[in-house]
Parts: sequence; structure tokens; C-alpha cells
Amino acid sequence: MDYSGKIVVITGASSGIGKESALEFAKLHASVVLVSRDRNKLEEVTKELLKYQTRILVCACDISQKDQVNEMSKQVLEKFGTVDVLVNNAGFGIYGNSNDLKVEEIESQMRTNYLGMVYCTKTFLPKMLEQKSGHIINVASVAASFGIPGMAGYCASKFAMLGYSESLYHELKGSGVGITVVSPIMVRTNFFNHNSFNNMPRYTTTLSANTVAKTVVRAASSPRLEIVVPQFVRIAIWFKHTFPYLINPIVGQIFRRSKTN
Ligand SMILES: NC(=O)c1ccc[n+]([C@@H]2O[C@H](COP(=O)([O-])OP(=O)(O)OC[C@H]3O[C@@H](n4cnc5c(N)ncnc54)[C@H](OP(=O)(O)O)[C@@H]3O)[C@@H](O)[C@H]2O)c1
Repeated sequence: MDYSGKIVVITGASSGIGKESALEFAKLHASVVLVSRDRNKLEEVTKELLKYQTRILVCACDISQKDQVNEMSKQVLEKFGTVDVLVNNAGFGIYGNSNDLKVEEIESQMRTNYLGMVYCTKTFLPKMLEQKSGHIINVASVAASFGIPGMAGYCASKFAMLGYSESLYHELKGSGVGITVVSPIMVRTNFFNHNSFNNMPRYTTTLSANTVAKTVVRAASSPRLEIVVPQFVRIAIWFKHTFPYLINPIVGQIFRRSKTN
């Protein structure tokens, strides 16, 4: 697909899945808006994008702050007049038992991962509805379908993202605007640099950020509500929803066992 003339806004574009998504959309000639808190890191990403000769806008913005999101969207619409794809990707996790985490740590994950996505969606959706076209991609996680021990605040924020997206999916039917959630398993990114993950068991099955980015691009023209990466993990989600009394104890046991190893 050729994205020439299309405007793609990506939050969390300074690193990992967001950065790789920016590269993939730029290869398809999209104009790319790079959003994150760290302007210097975004300038570095810009240097990598220059070879694709696309238009780039850098917006330093903390998406957990409503005012900053509104200011960012003003800049985008002033420069480009429109938005075609919004990738709500910015997010982070803190590892630790719920009883050990500060309530502020649980709040901060919800504020960025869930409310930040809501602020960005609310600020760009009216333009998409007006032009009767556009696509929103929400990067959730398989943690939107499984309550993982040690990740309660994070899982709650991703369950919330999936629930919000499912409602919006129904509301948007026939409007010309689509929404798709991309839910990967573990991905090799800076996500795990947070100190709290020092205590987390290491898992061998991980994805590259580029694999997920390619799915993000695919999601931009998908009629589906959720794409799980890799796809076979959808079977595990189906089993969990269909036989929760069987699967939940197994999931709990696997993660608890790996925590103590
Ligand atoms: N890595 C995994 O295993 C995994 C698995 C499933 C889902 N995910 C999800 O994938 C998304 C991307 O994560 P990643 O793995 O690519 O991690 P990452 O490399 O740490 O990237 C996270 C990005 O989010 C940005 N960010 C964090 N808080 C922000 C805020 N308040 N406002 C604006 N930007 C903010 C960071 O930029 P600045 O620091 O410059 O602000 C960075 O660009 C997240 O939503 C994560 O939950 C990750």
C-alpha cells in the first residue's frame, strides 16, 4: 500500500515498536508525526527517517497530560490539516506485586497507557469522522486478555484499552473510520529497562519490534478489532475465555512458578 499524502501520528515513536512503525510507514511514503516526551530522541529518529524523503513533524508531548495532547494535535492539524492514521503506542509497565507497588505507580500506568490513548483518540477522532476516513491503532498486549501476576496495574490499563476499543469499534461502524488493536506477546525493546523488571523472570519467546511494526502497518487497513502477534496466541486467548476455570489456574501457576525461580 502507498501512503503518499497520508498523515500518520505515532505516539511513543522515540523507541521500540513506535520507532519501527515510523520507519515502516515512512518506507511507504507516509508523512509521519513523531510523538514522545523526549525531543532529543525523536530528533535522532528523524535522522533515520530522512532517507525516505517524507515530511516529518516532531512533537514533544507527555500523552498523560490532556493539555499537552491538545497542543500537539493543534500543531499536527495546523501543519497538515488532517490525520489519516493514529497509532496509540506510547506506554510502559512496572513489575511488582500489587501490594508492593505505590498507588501512584499504578495510577501512572493507567494515566499513560489508558487515559493517554483516550486523550489522543478524542482529539483526532472528530477530524477523522468529519472526513469520513481514518484508522486508529491501539497497541495493547496479550496482557489485555490475561491477568499476569506482578503486572496488575499494567494488565488493568491494557484490559481498559481493549474494552474502550471494542466499544468504539461498534460505534464507528459505517462512519468510514476504523479501529484495530494490536496485541503482541513480549517484544525486545527498552520496555524492560525499568528497574522493576530486574526481578522479572526472563522468557525466551520474544518478538522483534519490527515484526510488531509490520503488523501495525497491516492493522491500518484491517477491518478486524484485534490482531494478536503471533497469531497462534489467539488460540490461548480463546481457551482462556471459553474455559476460564481450567486455564486461569494454569496461567497463575506458570507465572508464579517462574517468579520464584
Ligand atoms: N515490549 C513488550 O514486551 C510489549 C509487549 C506488548 C505490548 N507492548 C506495548 O507496546 C508499546 C510500546 O512499547 P515498547 O515495547 O516499544 O517500549 P519502549 O521501547 O520503552 O517504548 C515506549 C515508548 O513510549 C513512550 N512513552 C512512554 N511514556 C510516555 C508518555 N507519558 N508520553 C509520551 N510518550 C511516552 C517512550 O518515549 P519517551 O520516553 O521519549 O517519552 C517510548 O517512545 C507500549 O504500549 C507497551 O505497553 C510492549
